[in-house]
Amino acid sequence: MNMFTITIPASSANIGPGFDSAGIALSRYLSLHVTKQETWEFVHHSSHLPFVSHYEDHFIYHAAKQIAEVYNHVLPPCKVEVDSEIPLARGLGSSASAVIAGIELANQLCSLSLTLEQKLNHATVLEGHPDNAAPIIFGGFLITANTGDGEIDYFEMPPLDLDVVLYIPDFKMSTETARNLLPASFSRKNATTASGISNMMIAAFVSGDYLLAGRMMEKDLFHEPYRAELIPNYDEIKVEAKKLGAYGTVISGAGSAMISFVPKGQGNQIAAQMKAMLPQYDIAPLKIDHHGLQVSHCEKPLRMTAE
Ligand code: HSE
Repeated sequence: MNMFTITIPASSANIGPGFDSAGIALSRYLSLHVTKQETWEFVHHSSHLPFVSHYEDHFIYHAAKQIAEVYNHVLPPCKVEVDSEIPLARGLGSSASAVIAGIELANQLCSLSLTLEQKLNHATVLEGHPDNAAPIIFGGFLITANTGDGEIDYFEMPPLDLDVVLYIPDFKMSTETARNLLPASFSRKNATTASGISNMMIAAFVSGDYLLAGRMMEKDLFHEPYRAELIPNYDEIKVEAKKLGAYGTVISGAGSAMISFVPKGQGNQIAAQMKAMLPQYDIAPLKIDHHGLQVSHCEKPLRMTAE
């Protein structure tokens, strides 16, 4: 195979109390158009991508090389044209998307025939947690459990009958910084309350009770109370979105973006009204992506559309 395209969705991890466990795939994409040639070359087509002076320093190459080495393969050189709609360090899974791009690059170039589960396990090792990786690979809404036995358990949730609205500020948030704010341990009382809230939110989503899911997502005790102060409009976005009909609003991943879950068909209207209040934000009504990681053997980079 001489030419292929890898398309990878953005993702929003946590959904409040589903910390390090729940995530959804979103209709913004990272795409790689790969052509075999004599030497390695990465060409960037988006301002969302960082400058990289040498291919060996490229995050995607680095992930691909590590995976190839696991299976005792050597990556053959390629030209990789990269396009991205996923802003960096905003809580939209840009790093997990790049990790999975590397895993799939190795999978294709070395004909590894990796299963989706193997890709998820590798991505979790490279990322440290599976909540972005699972929806990116499978599409939709995934619940994961990393119980430490080397395999990631996952559950594909039923499709959500709602829209999401994303609020992306113009500042970055390092995941490491946002994780360092969290307590190293919780008392038994706090842990049971926090996991009860999470259980209730997931059950509500499964049953389609989005009012209850929205109420629970805003009661997170695992991470939002510690991170909220880093997001200047945190309270305002939650309150105003709720007034406009949102079920619930949470930090997307580790931030800095936030995300509202809103009734189906109301995403555009709520996004427009929120944009009037917060002109400094990139506010986007998005769809939940149900395709996940895609590989195609076509000539041009593929732009996926959700649903
Ligand atoms: N679950 C992770 C966190 C997502 O909130 O830190 C960001 O990588």
